Amino acid sequence: MKLKRAMAVPACITLFLVAVTSTGIENESSEYAGSSACLPCHTDEYNAWKSSKHASLFKPSTDTSLVCSGCHTTGMNASDQGPKENDVGCEACHGPGREHAAHEGDTDRIVLSQSADICGRCHSGNQSGDNGTWMTGYQPGMRLSELAGLKLIPVDPEGLPPPADDIHPSLTYNMWLASGHGKAHDRNIQINGKDWTGPVSCVACHSPHQRDNSSQLVMKPEKLCAACHFQAEVLKGVGAKGIEETRSLHTAIPCFSCHMTEGNHLMKVLRPDDPDLAESRTDSCSDCHEVKDRKMRAIQIKDWEAWYKETMDPIQADLKTVEAALKKDPNLLNRELKAKLDDIRANLSIIVKDGSNGVHNLDYALEIMALAKRHLAEIKKAIH
Ligand code: HEC
Ligand code: HEC
Ligand code: HEC
Ligand code: HEC
Ligand code: HEC
Ligand code: HEC
Ligand code: HEC
Ligand code: HEC
Repeated sequence: MKLKRAMAVPACITLFLVAVTSTGIENESSEYAGSSACLPCHTDEYNAWKSSKHASLFKPSTDTSLVCSGCHTTGMNASDQGPKENDVGCEACHGPGREHAAHEGDTDRIVLSQSADICGRCHSGNQSGDNGTWMTGYQPGMRLSELAGLKLIPVDPEGLPPPADDIHPSLTYNMWLASGHGKAHDRNIQINGKDWTGPVSCVACHSPHQRDNSSQLVMKPEKLCAACHFQAEVLKGVGAKGIEETRSLHTAIPCFSCHMTEGNHLMKVLRPDDPDLAESRTDSCSDCHEVKDRKMRAIQIKDWEAWYKETMDPIQADLKTVEAALKKDPNLLNRELKAKLDDIRANLSIIVKDGSNGVHNLDYALEIMALAKRHLAEIKKAIH
């Protein structure tokens, strides 16, 4: 693994430690019970967690241990001499639990939250931690934004996601925050039988304890995105009225293969035709084709989009004309033509809402547009 620029150990660390000890900031170690203390009452969660990467013991080298411990251990704070537990234990996400354990599991004395901020404390890059890397003073239940002076490395939602290897850890939270998932505050969604009011937090997709699926996903990665997105149907070419199933070349490709290249949590396709994409980086198209020719893929994707647009533009223009005429006289169309118009609208909205401009399944989009064009011609005849 690469630990590059974020890992420089600032010279001020030793000084800083001396300073906090002498100011007498309270050592909070007594509030932590340790994960093994949770085992007797939460056996299922414990066993699941134990098999996850969070439970793997951290073996720091002595010279960098302080720089690493804030994110690789539990209960570490700037004021402490050392961590309470040498892994990402229960209390890293639920807060100190000694009181909860001592009071028969009093739920007022433990944190239960789906907030991405809990994960973001470690799964993010920031420029303002007391030692330049990890942030102090955070406890689960708080908002990261409450931390004075916190400067998360910003990610531009319009730009390319930051390269995966550039910085440690990956800027997962930073990317997520800039993505539609981090911004979807007003949604009511259902996933795995649970109601979810946005944003689409880390634990909508990742199980905090289990690792039944890769990357601790809540379900098989091939199914995950379709739990909320309808684009899988576009890739399969099903759902449009009057159109036979029209599969895409990529029907069997899971969404994340194109949308999460390099593990990017902006969900952004690294387009082969993006002029800002360095040669050294993988684009989302070339990697899994036998012929790894970025220029060729760039031409293909542009061709698909151009074909889609050329076909779509005149149809939308026709639709506008028809709608303007119907506004003046709503009774121009008989029942049969009215039904056809409704189908045209519904079918077109599938490929418009899809958002890929034909890339997900050009053949299907072309079928839909061809039918729309034929029926619009009939409708226009009836209007004139
Ligand atoms: C990586 C963070 C993280 C770690 C580590 C973690 N939990 Fe959780 N836990 C959560 C989150 C987040 C939820 C809420 C999940 C949800 O509602 O979808 C949760 C839920 C729970 C619940 C409520 C019941 C449930 O499953 O929803 C219990 C009990 C629990 N955790 C106990 C534990 C114990 C005990 C450990 C350690 C052995 C532990 N957790 C480790 C994040 C974590
Ligand atoms: C700001 C929090 C943070 C700091 C500081 C940090 N890490 Fe990490 N580390 C993570 C996270 C989060 C991951 C999980 C992988 C990822 O998302 O990048 C990780 C993963 C790792 C892994 C597993 C890598 C892999 O690819 O599976 C190693 C080894 C590691 N870190 C070593 C270190 C060392 C050594 C230091 C100190 C020099 C350090 N880390 C400092 C958060 C941190
Ligand atoms: C003596 C038994 C006991 C111990 C030890 C214990 N818990 Fe609990 N815990 C409970 C009980 C009982 C509940 C309430 C369960 C319920 O209402 O369904 C609970 C609930 C929780 C919840 C959910 C809180 C909520 O608001 O619903 C979390 C999270 C949790 N415990 C985490 C932990 C962690 C972390 C530890 C270890 C530090 C721990 N527990 C130790 C008994 C215990
Ligand atoms: C205290 C810091 C910390 C917190 C809090 C934390 N993580 Fe992690 N996480 C890590 C580290 C460190 C690793 C890498 C462990 C390793 O590979 O040894 C990791 C690894 C992971 C992985 C990779 C698992 C795999 O199999 O590759 C996922 C997924 C993950 N964390 C999700 C979450 C989610 C979701 C939350 C919040 C509910 C969360 N983490 C909270 C530090 C943290
Ligand atoms: C729990 C529901 C849920 C899951 C699961 C989910 N998404 Fe989303 N996704 C959303 C919501 C809500 C939005 C915000 C969209 C909006 O504005 O309509 C969104 C937006 C997006 C966007 C639009 C770009 C953006 O940043 O706004 C893309 C691309 C995307 N998701 C891809 C994926 C992929 C790939 C997966 C699977 C790895 C996935 N989503 C899983 C709910 C989900
Ligand atoms: C919309 C679903 C979704 C959301 C939301 C999401 N993830 Fe992920 N995450 C995934 C998928 C899918 C993968 C596996 C990608 C792959 O295998 O290429 C993944 C991979 C990871 C990994 C493994 C290493 C990597 O980067 O590939 C970590 C760590 C991780 N996510 C942490 C998080 C954290 C922390 C959050 C919240 C800030 C989060 N994820 C939000 C779907 C999601
Ligand atoms: C073959 C690669 C590929 C696959 C597979 C794929 N997509 Fe896409 N997707 C694209 C491309 C390319 C775009 C156009 C994005 C762009 O120009 O940045 C796109 C656009 C989108 C958009 C609109 C983007 C936005 O920013 O609003 C969403 C949402 C989306 N895809 C979701 C999904 C989902 C969900 C799946 C799985 C069912 C999926 N995609 C599968 C390549 C793919
Ligand atoms: C995870 C692997 C994967 C990804 C990612 C992927 N493809 Fe494909 N692609 C395939 C497979 C599999 C086929 C069908 C088998 C074949 O014909 O090679 C295919 C077929 C094609 C074809 C027709 C056959 C050919 O090779 O010319 C084109 C064009 C194409 N893909 C372009 C793209 C573009 C553009 C992207 C990015 C938006 C992309 N692919 C992303 C796997 C992938």
